[in-house]
Amino acid sequence: MSKNLSELSGRKGLKDNLFDRMGQLAQTDGTPDKKELQKLADEFLIGDANTYGTASFYDFLKPENKGKKAYVCNGTACVCAGTQEKVIDDLKKHYKADEIGHMTCLGRCHENAAFHIDGQNYSGAALNELESIIEKKEGTQDNYHVGSLGNAILTREFTSVESYYASFKAALKKDSNDVLDEIKISNVRGRGGAGFPMGVKFGFCRNAESETKFIICNADEGDPGAYSDRYLLEQRPHSVLYGMLIAGYVTHAQYGVVYIRAEYPDAAEIVQTEIDVLREAGLIGKNIDGSGFNFDFKIIRAQGSYICGEETALINSIEGQRPEVRVRPPFPAQQGLFNKPTIVNNVETLASLNFIIENGGQAWKDIGTEKSSGTKLICLDSFFNNPGVYEVEMGTPLSTVVNELGGGFKSAVKAMQIGGPLGGLVPVSKIDELQIDFESFSNGGFLLGHASIICIPEELQIMEFIEHLFDFASYESCGKCFPCRLGTKRGQEMSFKALNSGYKINRKLFDDLLNTLEQTSLCAHGGGIPLPIKNALHYFGDEMEQYFE
Ligand SMILES: Cc1cc2nc3c(=O)[nH]c(=O)nc-3n(C[C@H](O)[C@H](O)[C@H](O)COP(=O)(O)O)c2cc1C
Ligand code: SF4
Repeated sequence: MSKNLSELSGRKGLKDNLFDRMGQLAQTDGTPDKKELQKLADEFLIGDANTYGTASFYDFLKPENKGKKAYVCNGTACVCAGTQEKVIDDLKKHYKADEIGHMTCLGRCHENAAFHIDGQNYSGAALNELESIIEKKEGTQDNYHVGSLGNAILTREFTSVESYYASFKAALKKDSNDVLDEIKISNVRGRGGAGFPMGVKFGFCRNAESETKFIICNADEGDPGAYSDRYLLEQRPHSVLYGMLIAGYVTHAQYGVVYIRAEYPDAAEIVQTEIDVLREAGLIGKNIDGSGFNFDFKIIRAQGSYICGEETALINSIEGQRPEVRVRPPFPAQQGLFNKPTIVNNVETLASLNFIIENGGQAWKDIGTEKSSGTKLICLDSFFNNPGVYEVEMGTPLSTVVNELGGGFKSAVKAMQIGGPLGGLVPVSKIDELQIDFESFSNGGFLLGHASIICIPEELQIMEFIEHLFDFASYESCGKCFPCRLGTKRGQEMSFKALNSGYKINRKLFDDLLNTLEQTSLCAHGGGIPLPIKNALHYFGDEMEQYFE
């Protein structure tokens, strides 16, 4: 059935997009009117249950969102920094309790106290200006350090469209297979978490026979603690657009979709402006620079759901279906958006292509380690003396990131969650043993993931952190498979009861739950959440003992 829905949703192509239309319907009230949803279903020849099922999934489409006027960030970094309560208290002076919702996460982990009003994000000291924000819709912009150690590639200053796209024009004059070879030589691996080689994925898509193919930029950056994709989208948007154009050229795709999370409103505006600049410059559209290559972009604004970062849920989301994870195979490169071959790549992965095309694959391969080539962006939260986004060469010691770039911790920290909610919990005692690359982290029993760092302060109970992780995982579960749908909730209940009553957790039951989640979940959401919890049990056993039978 969902295969047919993909076809039906694809009938109108990307221009008249079902999911986009639902977003537009929610603009007035915060949720689409049921009658309007029915009309939309009729227009797209699908059932009412489909449009309702979709709308009721998302934070910013579901009926409960009606009438919300302000949103408080409840991402892990704000939780660990303990800033939420004050934000809620201050907002309550201006709004009724039921007018205040939540957003996860606003990517303001460098200064916390993050909130959203009238389509704009605020954080840090902005809370002191709440009155003028509400009255004049004005507030201060956030600031964070941007730095690099060694080669500055992703953080390199942008000069002009003309010089930046000269290598794209040169590539269009080459055989696209030779361009793909350079990407394969570079061995650039996906930065969205799984580390899959980009060139191999492009090869699959190139070889898939279809007149229509898509390139999707996964700009859903849902991992609390990560704001490096936001940095690239807002401050280096051409690195992402350039990467998508090259991806289109080597795979023979004609359409690029930038799927940008609702929590990053500025990013969507900025990227749209730069797409218009490219159109003016004749770098997108039909027969680009006389090459016969056609490519155009479409921005899709997401509606608030972490699981939409998972590539198949993301595809369902663009199609206007309920964003449940798809069973693989077929993989998106063979059968993705509207059942057509589709590349899904992370923002940062795509941003690496400008350097690779300009300097050749070997130049990227020469940076970093044998298996993890190139540079990586790292985000540091507000527990660091210099919070910000830093570009380092793969293989850089974690201690250099923490102590030199980050300037050490502002206050006592006992562990760091690195790589998002599915990333490991690294005790500070391990800082000297790890380096920033995929292998070092997995060999150490952790996960590099997107490489954002959230600090766990000394005073926060690790069990409180675990309860927060289970709560997040259960809220964001797509519900398709029962180990995750039920298991994450049971985990949250157990840890909550242990924290708030005399209840003691049965360790065997808890271990069974973690193993079931890890081994039987359909995707890495349910499959990944046990990692930080197992790390916690291993490294903080003494502290956690009190909660077990
Ligand atoms: C629960 C979950 C959430 C994810 N969220 C994101 C995300 O926000 N951004 C992203 O690029 N990849 C995310 N991924 C990974 C994507 O599924 C996919 O692997 C990635 O977009 C592929 O691009 P890459 O090869 O460039 O990393 C997520 C995966 C899972 C399981
Ligand atoms: S593991 Fe969770 S998020 Fe992934 S498919 Fe199963 S229910 Fe959905």
